[in-house]
Amino acid sequence: MSTNENIVWHDHAVDKKQRSEQKKQKPCVLWFTGLSGSGKSTVAGAVEQALVKMGAHTYLLDGDNVRLGLCKGLTFSDDDRKENIRRIGEVAKLMSDAGLIVLTAFISPHRIDREQVRQLLPETEFIEIFVDTPLAICELRDPKGLYKKARAGEIKNFTGIDSVYEKPQHAEIRVENGDEPLQVAVEVIINYLKDNNYL
Ligand code: ADX
Repeated sequence: MSTNENIVWHDHAVDKKQRSEQKKQKPCVLWFTGLSGSGKSTVAGAVEQALVKMGAHTYLLDGDNVRLGLCKGLTFSDDDRKENIRRIGEVAKLMSDAGLIVLTAFISPHRIDREQVRQLLPETEFIEIFVDTPLAICELRDPKGLYKKARAGEIKNFTGIDSVYEKPQHAEIRVENGDEPLQVAVEVIINYLKDNNYL
């Protein structure tokens, strides 16, 4: 028996349209994906700063932070990563329903999980951003020392080492956070949002 059988969606008087109009913006989800250490959080944080400067109402959901709360207890098995991304997808949907521009920074290594989040949202509201930093650079940076531990076999299922990362094939935006300055990536993203009438 489905657990949803006796639960019915309730439409409330104040809706997404009203909430977005009040904020004078078009809600959307900027979904950053890429390897650990690729710069997702850094780029997403800088984009959020730029958006806020322009008067936008935003929220940034960040991998490590969310795993300390909403997704506490989830591991890095394929199943738990799937559940992690499913929860983030649902939260991002609620936040965009609240009229916000949502930024998310998760490895989200599986194409199908990212695709499922895309399907949750209206067509134009999911913007996939591939932070395409080569593994060698991420490993060289190793900001948390985790690649070193993974190479030593102290951490299992580490993305890029002994766990898969499926690159996006049709990301709306691709940026690099290797050789290029951070500001270049920020500009590419802000220009995309302007060119496509989000801002
Ligand atoms: S995801 O795969 O489920 O999307 P998420 O973005 O939430 O991952 O968390 C990734 C962060 O957790 C990494 O940046 C890293 O700091 C940390 N981490 C710890 N163990 C692992 C692991 N086995 N694989 C990848 N990241 C890990």
